[in-house]
Amino acid sequence: MTSRRNLIIASAAGAAGIAGGVAWWRGQERITSETPPPFKPDTAFPNRLRVPGADGLYGVHDVAGAFTLAAKSVQQEIVPGKPAALLAYEVESQGRRLFNPLIRLRSSGKISAKFWNGIEETSIIHWHGLMVDSNNDGHPHYAVAGGATYEYSFAVPNRAATYWYHPHPHHLTGKQVYLGLGGLFIVEDDEELALQKALDLKLSTTDIPLVLHDRRIDARGQLVFAPTDMERADGFLGSQVLVNWTPRPYFEASTRLYRFRILNASNARLYKLAFRGGEQLLEFQLIGNDGGLIDRPQKIKEVFLSPAERIDVLLDLRNARVGDVITLASLPFDPMENEDGPEAKDGKPVEGAKMAPQGPHAMHGGNARNEKSAVPADAKDKEKNDIPEIGVAMELMRIHVRRKETYDRTVPATLSRIVPIAANCASPRVIALDHVKMVWRINGQTYQQEKTPITVKRGATEVWNIKNAEASMPHPFHIHGFQFQVLERLGSPEQQKKLALGNTGDKGLAASDLGWKDTVLVWPGETVCIAINFTHPFNGDQVYMVHCHNLEHEDQGMMLNMKVEA
Ligand code: C2O
Ligand code: CU
Ligand code: CU
Repeated sequence: MTSRRNLIIASAAGAAGIAGGVAWWRGQERITSETPPPFKPDTAFPNRLRVPGADGLYGVHDVAGAFTLAAKSVQQEIVPGKPAALLAYEVESQGRRLFNPLIRLRSSGKISAKFWNGIEETSIIHWHGLMVDSNNDGHPHYAVAGGATYEYSFAVPNRAATYWYHPHPHHLTGKQVYLGLGGLFIVEDDEELALQKALDLKLSTTDIPLVLHDRRIDARGQLVFAPTDMERADGFLGSQVLVNWTPRPYFEASTRLYRFRILNASNARLYKLAFRGGEQLLEFQLIGNDGGLIDRPQKIKEVFLSPAERIDVLLDLRNARVGDVITLASLPFDPMENEDGPEAKDGKPVEGAKMAPQGPHAMHGGNARNEKSAVPADAKDKEKNDIPEIGVAMELMRIHVRRKETYDRTVPATLSRIVPIAANCASPRVIALDHVKMVWRINGQTYQQEKTPITVKRGATEVWNIKNAEASMPHPFHIHGFQFQVLERLGSPEQQKKLALGNTGDKGLAASDLGWKDTVLVWPGETVCIAINFTHPFNGDQVYMVHCHNLEHEDQGMMLNMKVEA
């Protein structure tokens, strides 16, 4: 507990204790007062949460006709009072300037958008989770140079859900996302609008998107992206978690139901999310995953969220008291960075791999992300010691209950109907995740743009066993173009097993595995069995990708082309 970050966490916990009004879920009596106490955000969380508004960062863009997304460097305050250079997609919408807009569209609506690349590197936009043809998918093959444009034109057949968009140029995705590029893409349909009506939910008021990502920020308030060889291999972590680009945020709530749509947009950090009041974990309801609403709300207290995954949750504050404080936290867990066990033994050279990092810290001890390298100790090393390991306890946001409100809506017992894909895990295609010499691989290969190691047939239903090696790291496995269903988890670590729902038989599924998914977390030693239906409405062969969504793993080549043959 010596790092500055840890001190902040410790003092924040103290502040919550002093604030005191955190006792309602313990059923303790408290004196209610009509006038709310004067509001003092605690010093550990002094910044009001940024939410999507009419303009600026994450401003809401309701699609009505063609628009242009211009990737460029803009000035935005991350740390209040310190304007920082940020890469953003700028959209002009009825005289308003939006950066990384929250794009909102009706299901089956159309996108006609021009991407203008105003940064000095090649780039391209990928629409994460959307079913589009390969020309519109942001395949790195279509990346355009600085100054060039790319025209997108596609329909969005997807059901209502929280999707997102981000750059996808090979070797540069991690850097460009980290420096700012990316935004939410919310699709709505009748079922979704009915739910909003039933629960009286309104975007940015009671339906709050929360984009989580960790960043390093220097004394001048600027983003720092400077991965070492080891971080390029394992993943680049930040020293603090921003929520909607807000450092140490608070949110003011009333005594009613809130919806949070949470995206993990971190390059490499995993979270185990929970809402905490004092020392108690509060129950909340998971209502949707990557591909939208699930069948029925699931009451849970904690959930893993790996990079690129989304969850849609309801937090019921009806029984809270004015003055109560709730913390959105990441609970401690085992990061399972077990990559130093025996490597894959096939001994074959890695296809298409760039030179593997060599040298004194090419291989490292299990928990040694912060280990001093051979480089003499300098300011940089000191800064790195402030970076919390994956899996340490973190507080991400405070929710202050500020107002009384009468709220009498009921969460529907049935949210949607997910038709199960008729398939079982008996004879799957195996997708093996492993590494040699710090190079992460899929089926023994790394990315080669002109090769398509995975070929499937249009219209086919396939079952895949995504099998992570024992000596490995957790990998969030993502498939472009198609949402899939998780059928079974095998060989899960204890911390994952504990989250398995009682009512899914012995399949080991957690609430966050239900419904439709485009990204799934696979722990070392674990096999996750998924079913995918490759039906699509496009003409001809389509080339998509599968990859790990740890962006450093992806950039380093933990990605393969997948052809869907017409
Ligand atoms: Cu969000 Cu290919 O990724
Ligand atoms: Cu994607
Ligand atoms: Cu990975």
